[in-house]
Amino acid sequence: MGIFDKIWNWIDKKGHISDIPLKAMPDYTLNITYWIGGLLAAAFFYQALTGMVLMLYYLPGQDSAYKSTEYIMNSVPFGNLLLTSHQYMAYAMIFLVFVHFFRNYFIGAYKKGRELTWIVGVLMSVVVILMGFTGYFLPYTEISVDATDVGIGMAKVIPFIGSFLAGLISGNGTISSEFSRILDFHVLILPAILLLLLGVHMYLYEKNEAAPPLDLNHKVVNKRRIKWFPVFFAYSLAIGFLLYGVVIILSAIFPLTLPPEAGSGIPIIPMPEWYLAPYYKIVDFDPISTNVIYLMLLIVIFLIIIPFLDRKESRDPRDRPFFTAIGITLMQYLILYTAWAYIQPGVEVQPIIWAPISFGIPIYNIIFAMILYKKYRRGVKIE
Ligand code: HEM
Repeated sequence: MGIFDKIWNWIDKKGHISDIPLKAMPDYTLNITYWIGGLLAAAFFYQALTGMVLMLYYLPGQDSAYKSTEYIMNSVPFGNLLLTSHQYMAYAMIFLVFVHFFRNYFIGAYKKGRELTWIVGVLMSVVVILMGFTGYFLPYTEISVDATDVGIGMAKVIPFIGSFLAGLISGNGTISSEFSRILDFHVLILPAILLLLLGVHMYLYEKNEAAPPLDLNHKVVNKRRIKWFPVFFAYSLAIGFLLYGVVIILSAIFPLTLPPEAGSGIPIIPMPEWYLAPYYKIVDFDPISTNVIYLMLLIVIFLIIIPFLDRKESRDPRDRPFFTAIGITLMQYLILYTAWAYIQPGVEVQPIIWAPISFGIPIYNIIFAMILYKKYRRGVKIE
């Protein structure tokens, strides 16, 4: 037995590593589409690590937040890389939430016992977006403070709990209490909630096992299993470090520059981060109304109850034309309204333009999906 084997055996024996209840997994899970969630967990870990280092230098407060952010970027060794990669990893995390969400949506991973895994996932995506939202405020730039104020104003109109929620974030109304609340949420409360939800999410995943591929017979595939250690362990490290590498390289090539400080009086068009841009455009459809907040709530409620609406046993997207069409519609809305928000930020849109587009897309998708479904069913019957 070599020296490394001996060391490993000692660690295994004392640390009871082999007893860790990570089940051997079906071989079909050795595929990147089953690892988007793993990448998300790796991104979360990176955020926690870099966030802790940033907290050593960051000072909340009207007079210090912007200056300490400038100090991190210009004077702390590798400070710009640290801050830029923290921000880019946040973007990667939100982007991966969308990928993981749509992947699980289209393969019907919320069916057959995985309903709660899905619901916990929806709650996690809300927490991830809130982490991005609270982080945006912290450097105290003109644009980030404006966008946060718009967000707090929108939270106020949520029925029953709106003013409570807005008060939770803005505190007693002074800027220092707003800073301390937002910082607490960003570095403590939201990460703790996310960690707790991730624990539940992973426990349920372990219990229910990964949803098998659509084109394979479950019983046949499940016979071929691979031990979690070392194969899946090495695989998760490899893809995790690949993500870190890509983000760090991009951060070095495209470092952040700090926009003007809040209160500097430089005119700006208030613009949220890209993942909130679609809602920002919808505000332009009806600027005096608060419908957008109801729309957001409706989307979250729809996503939570979807496992109870889509009752067909088959997970194949071709057997669920209505839900497939709704998923495609959501993707199209996200892309279209984001692009629109960047091309015409803050430009009001008349109902004669937005109504046919917004209602036309789902109607077209549903009709098209139904036609394809009929053809597909005819083909299945002939076979
Ligand atoms: C920070 C956010 C999230 C993290 C860290 C996370 C993590 C994970 C991990 C590690 C897995 C197992 C491997 C995989 O299938 O990729 C998983 C599976 C799953 N997640 Fe998430 N997830 C998050 C958000 C979401 C969201 C937004 C949804 C959907 C609304 C969701 C629904 C699911 C479902 C249904 C599964 C089971 C998939 C299967 O059986 O193949 N998760 N998640």
